[in-house]
Amino acid sequence: MSSTSSSIRSQTAANPQHSFLRDVIAGLSESRKTLPSKYFYDQKGCQLFDQICQLPEYYPTRTELAIMDLHASEMAACLGENNALIEFGSGSSMKTQILLSELEGLLAYVPLDIAPSYLHESTQRLQQRNPQLKIIPVCADFTADWQLPDEVYEADHRTFYFPGSTIGNLKPPQAVRLLQHIRHAGHPSGGLLLGVDRKKSVDIIEAAYNDAAGVTAAFNLNLLSRINRQLDGNFALDQFVHHAFYDAERGRMEMHLVSQLAHEVQIAGQTFHFAKDESIRTELSHKYSLQDIQQMATAADMDVAQVWSDSQDWFSVFYMQF
Ligand code: AVI
Repeated sequence: MSSTSSSIRSQTAANPQHSFLRDVIAGLSESRKTLPSKYFYDQKGCQLFDQICQLPEYYPTRTELAIMDLHASEMAACLGENNALIEFGSGSSMKTQILLSELEGLLAYVPLDIAPSYLHESTQRLQQRNPQLKIIPVCADFTADWQLPDEVYEADHRTFYFPGSTIGNLKPPQAVRLLQHIRHAGHPSGGLLLGVDRKKSVDIIEAAYNDAAGVTAAFNLNLLSRINRQLDGNFALDQFVHHAFYDAERGRMEMHLVSQLAHEVQIAGQTFHFAKDESIRTELSHKYSLQDIQQMATAADMDVAQVWSDSQDWFSVFYMQF
């Protein structure tokens, strides 16, 4: 790695296993069992998510990439010069490279992700392709408390990049709180480039989460394997089935794991009872209209300055100015 890059700065809990166990026990103790989707992304989960992004049914990645290919230079023109770029949930970094290639005079790039394996790999890859770029990777949970490194305040503007419609994995009030946090951290000048999956025909959305090759099912079930491995759990993976459906009223996909029979599971010495057909909700993925995003921007004191979409309006990238 080049000398311009720093080692990963961690802002996660001193003992991440404690928070993982605490959240798993809290979620499985609810009357309707849930598990937080942020725990999908261990090393295996990151690999499976990369595979999902290549699936024919999973349109968001290729649609957003095509938007970036076509419009990244216009996006860069909106952002101006003398920026620090901060990216949330940086993932596999293909879209980032498209943007970086267009940005001039970038002072620092700060990828912020909960998954150390993603951070490490993407930092290495981007540093190789951009040897002069100062990269400051931060391992943090962007749904919790996070802070930007002091260096970003040396730039004139702080530009946040939040691609992939990961904002859809938050409940709307939580998403607004994150936008408000971004607005505050970006003070006094900057903006947010936000990738959002749009509302569309139910068939297209549902197919994206029910792929024929079963990769999304494996991604969902890997959460139980992770609990078995890291929290001394004894989930029998063949007793749970992946179930994903669109709730049109709430405008969101829900992913579940459904117990095939009445049984008990032990995790770190605690027992959880499952009825036959009882499910654990593992993920929400909200789909938004232009108006929905406009309202969220207003609630966070941001102005939607530009919107780039594909020809079918399946996906949009918004630039919101502070
Ligand atoms: C990361 N996130 C935006 C993906 C989504 O579409 O909600 C996660 C995912 N879950 C199943 N497939 C992809």
